[in-house]
Amino acid sequence: MSVPLVDGFGRVHRDLRISITDRCNFRCTYCMPAEGLDWLPRENLLTFEEIERIAAVMVDRFGIDSIRLTGGEPTVRANLPVLVEKLAALGVDLALTTNGATLGLLADKLAAAGLRRINISLDSLRPDRFEQLTRRADLNRVLDGIDAALAAGLDPVKVNAVMMRGVNDDEIVDFARFGRDKGVEVRFIEFMPLDADLSWSSDKVVALDEIVSTVGDVFPLVPADRSHSPAALWHYADGRGSFGVIASVTEAFCGSCDRVRLTAEGMFRNCLFAVQEHDLRELLRSGADDDALAAAIAGAVRDKWAGHAINQVHFIRPGRSMSQIGG
Ligand code: 5AD
Ligand code: SF4
Repeated sequence: MSVPLVDGFGRVHRDLRISITDRCNFRCTYCMPAEGLDWLPRENLLTFEEIERIAAVMVDRFGIDSIRLTGGEPTVRANLPVLVEKLAALGVDLALTTNGATLGLLADKLAAAGLRRINISLDSLRPDRFEQLTRRADLNRVLDGIDAALAAGLDPVKVNAVMMRGVNDDEIVDFARFGRDKGVEVRFIEFMPLDADLSWSSDKVVALDEIVSTVGDVFPLVPADRSHSPAALWHYADGRGSFGVIASVTEAFCGSCDRVRLTAEGMFRNCLFAVQEHDLRELLRSGADDDALAAAIAGAVRDKWAGHAINQVHFIRPGRSMSQIGG
């Protein structure tokens, strides 16, 4: 029998995001310095067995039904399909967020191991700008990776584009057209204050309203039911697919948040912006049983705050960047 994982505001949590590494083959300017970060020593990372154990407790005890693997870049971890197979066996809706650069090699293996859905991060469709943003000249590898994901039958394939004023906000229509032509759902993401280089300021945020009106000026739109998704969704009126906007800044969805997170070192976080973490690795490695793990998780969720308050004066920026928390 599982019990719902409820916090003090009555929100039920069903979605677990697991960062499996802090490393990345890219060096996106808003995420990492050019030389990378100080990577975690390997022994600090949870093993696949430890990840599987925590995931199983969350599924069995709390009815978690969706798991997403993130990083850093999750595909840099050796033998990723082995982990995918272990987690898929738990019967959850399993997803992966990746920069896409290695999917040409991996998409088939991941699909065969039981991966269903995939989100590929891509912030520019222009080779020179892509290289400036990621410090890698790999746009074509990512585009090939998107094709490989589609060919492998992953469904849906979504493309996440973080929109930044003066950086890539002139590509909104290009991204919309790209999604329509490829048959992928583009999800525009508002830039959040989780950037490693402290370049964030509220005037860099390109808001949902602007994104929707920019796309709508070129392609007529029909609003779609977003149900539980954090993305607000629109269909193209001509039936050629849809796109989403994740308005984490201008229309925070904290009130219906159902997510919890586990970092690569086994720190449990009840919010992307949490300032406090709960050390599950320490518990695991000191021989804790499933009851003790479940109690720690339930306690961490009970303490969850109402929301991130990015737009308020008391907002506290977390001490980690996105690659260290997992997106
Ligand atoms: N704001 C919004 N999205 C971000 N991502 C990384 N940093 C930020 C930020 N500061 C995105 C990545 C990827 C996902 C994991 O999170 O581009 O799509
Ligand atoms: Fe890597 Fe993603 Fe960070 Fe870019 S944003 S450096 S792809 S982890």
